[in-house]
Amino acid sequence: MEYRSLGRSGLKVSALSFGTWVTFGEQVGEDTAAACLVAARKAGVNFFDTAESYAQGRAEAVLGRLVRKLGWKRSDLLVSTKLFWGGDGPNDTGLSRKHIVEGALASLGRLQMDYVDLIFCHRPDDRHTPVEETVRAMSHLVDRGLAFYWGTSEWPAELIREAHDVARRERLVPPTMEQPQYNMFHRDRVESEYRRLYRDFGMGTTVWSPLASGFLTGKYAHGVPAGSRLSLRGYGWLRQRYGTPEALRLLKKLGQLDRLAASLKATMPQLALAWCLENPDVSTVITGASRPEQVAENMKAVDAVGRLSPEVMEKIERILGNKPKAEPDFRTQ
Ligand SMILES: NC(=O)c1ccc[n+]([C@@H]2O[C@H](COP(=O)([O-])OP(=O)(O)OC[C@H]3O[C@@H](n4cnc5c(N)ncnc54)[C@H](OP(=O)(O)O)[C@@H]3O)[C@@H](O)[C@H]2O)c1
Repeated sequence: MEYRSLGRSGLKVSALSFGTWVTFGEQVGEDTAAACLVAARKAGVNFFDTAESYAQGRAEAVLGRLVRKLGWKRSDLLVSTKLFWGGDGPNDTGLSRKHIVEGALASLGRLQMDYVDLIFCHRPDDRHTPVEETVRAMSHLVDRGLAFYWGTSEWPAELIREAHDVARRERLVPPTMEQPQYNMFHRDRVESEYRRLYRDFGMGTTVWSPLASGFLTGKYAHGVPAGSRLSLRGYGWLRQRYGTPEALRLLKKLGQLDRLAASLKATMPQLALAWCLENPDVSTVITGASRPEQVAENMKAVDAVGRLSPEVMEKIERILGNKPKAEPDFRTQ
């Protein structure tokens, strides 16, 4: 496994990491969850991601129980959680100081941990909470040793910049990393919108849904297999997302990508994950899996990165046809 710096921080995070969304506390039982964790750890994964909202807190509880049961040394691991959707009450949601502090303590309780390594604001809340209140509360979590680094998830670039401005002005701890969606189908934010943030703040990224919830495996080419994520109750919204004309246009390209993967002696999931890893602004790619066999397959993507020559990347670019537009350089126009 390769270990990368989390942005400009001193932290080393495994290039591939493992997340608990949909699966832990919901789709899979604890034995399968444990087998997935073991397979990931065996491959060198040191970073495990969860959130207070995943399976209404059960994902955190399962992860915490299993880390204890497996007897893993806490300092070998990076564990993250995310705050925003903590419950039904008017103060259980959002990024107020109250929810951030209470939410973090509740998460740590479920995880049975004294601290998390990373903590994220799961979405922006600036419609309801001044950014300064949120930055101050997240900075407070770090000062209290409840988390080592804090970050954002799916915040617009301008709001991340505002958080940095507030932190600098008020001498608070600034955000270190962002957790955006990134995969072959979904590129703009990571490749274009955030471009200046890497340069200006050394922002790290822990990217999610690298297989577009499984679409990039090609498994949905002929319908929805039983037991797969899209077959689960409550995920109709996800089925709809991949029914749009743009999604259908991209899905048609999977055959070509699959053939390219085979020519590189890789599987389609491995090609899709390796493609994410090729981006130097990606600190870690958070993978997901409902079975340990998927974890084993996905972890081999690290070996496929070396096979992505500039010519291969160019071929992929031509197949996808969705490269975000570069900002113009007026000196060369
Ligand atoms: N910050 C955020 O807002 C946010 C949002 C979403 C996710 N995340 C984080 O990112 C993590 C990863 O996201 P994700 O689970 O959506 O990742 P993903 O890689 O896009 O999808 C993972 C799913 O694809 C299927 N799959 C994976 N490997 C496969 C393989 N080799 N062959 C066939 N099917 C395979 C499995 O589902 P089935 O077997 O059930 O089909 C698996 O659960 C989450 O666990 C979470 O920690 C964060």
